[in-house]
Amino acid sequence: MIPDNVRLVEVGPRDGLQNEGKSLGVDERVDFINRLARCGLTHIEAGSFVRPDRVPQMSGTGEVLGRLDLDAGTSYPVLIPNLKGLDEAMSAGAREIAIFASATETFSHRNINCSIDDSLERFRAVTQKARSAGILVRGYISCVLGCPYEGRVHSGAVARIATELLEFGCYEISLGDTLGTGTPATTRKLLDVVTECIPADRIAVHFHDTYGQALANILVALQCGISVIDASVSGLGGCPYAKGASGNAATEDVIYMLDGMAVQHGVDLELLIQTGRHICSKLGRPVMSRVNLALHS
Ligand code: HMG
Ligand code: MG
Repeated sequence: MIPDNVRLVEVGPRDGLQNEGKSLGVDERVDFINRLARCGLTHIEAGSFVRPDRVPQMSGTGEVLGRLDLDAGTSYPVLIPNLKGLDEAMSAGAREIAIFASATETFSHRNINCSIDDSLERFRAVTQKARSAGILVRGYISCVLGCPYEGRVHSGAVARIATELLEFGCYEISLGDTLGTGTPATTRKLLDVVTECIPADRIAVHFHDTYGQALANILVALQCGISVIDASVSGLGGCPYAKGASGNAATEDVIYMLDGMAVQHGVDLELLIQTGRHICSKLGRPVMSRVNLALHS
């Protein structure tokens, strides 16, 4: 049954900006995040603490975090690859982090320079330290429905990693179709396997729209009882280590679909459309949301 309420996790300021040719400054990123918060989004990924030479678009995330109102009821998770990233995030006052494992060995090496098992060891230490400081930890698994280097991915591997991430203290696991190759049929198969190991209310979905399947896949996830959806305003997004992959499901499009099913989400679509237009003009790129294009007056 489709849930009555959905929580949207807006990943535009992190996933959305990390792959753009043009890097935005701290002021522009803070302004973008504050605009998203005013739309009613309660979970906004604010950036990442990774190597600045690897992902220069995310450098200055500490400053961004320091300029946000962390007491206003919005969560601002930041992506963390290791203890060094966690220490920097803690110094900047982070209250929530997201760790990111991969379902395939090659992507794990390309993305974070270690094997899956080594990454899980690292993430266990990161999670323990964060939890003992009262910081919430969200877990990602990338490449759950296809890998740019290995092709097919075993659902059993995804379920094993998801179980482990939950066991060491993540409050929810976001399943990432990094490449965007998933279809409703493969999404259904994956979710059937994963929900045998962990409950649907601990799962979020994170679809990239490279093949135009993101909304259809989200609908399947909703039908499986999943009520947390990652999306990115105006369909921004991509991963520097998943060449050819395009942006995330556009938040405007997800909201329009939820409205059509009378599912509650708490986001002001009109304001979001303006925010999407604003950030795309800053980046000098076209709006990728079909709903934004259709409804903008
Ligand atoms: P490494 O080279 O293995 O790290 O990088 P190292 O421990 O060997 O250290 C080498 C140097 O990096 C040292 O500096 C460290 O201090 C520095 P040096 O002594 O040579 O001057 N270093 C760091 N600097 C800043 N922040 C850090 C950090 N750690 C070490 N945290 C690392 C390993 C993971 C850091 C690197 O490979 C990296 O930054 N990778 C980028 C990962 C990334 O951001 N990928 C994109 C996001 S994932 C994604 O988009 C998918 C997702 O959206 C879900 C989906 O779509 O499916 C989440
Ligand atoms: Mg992503």
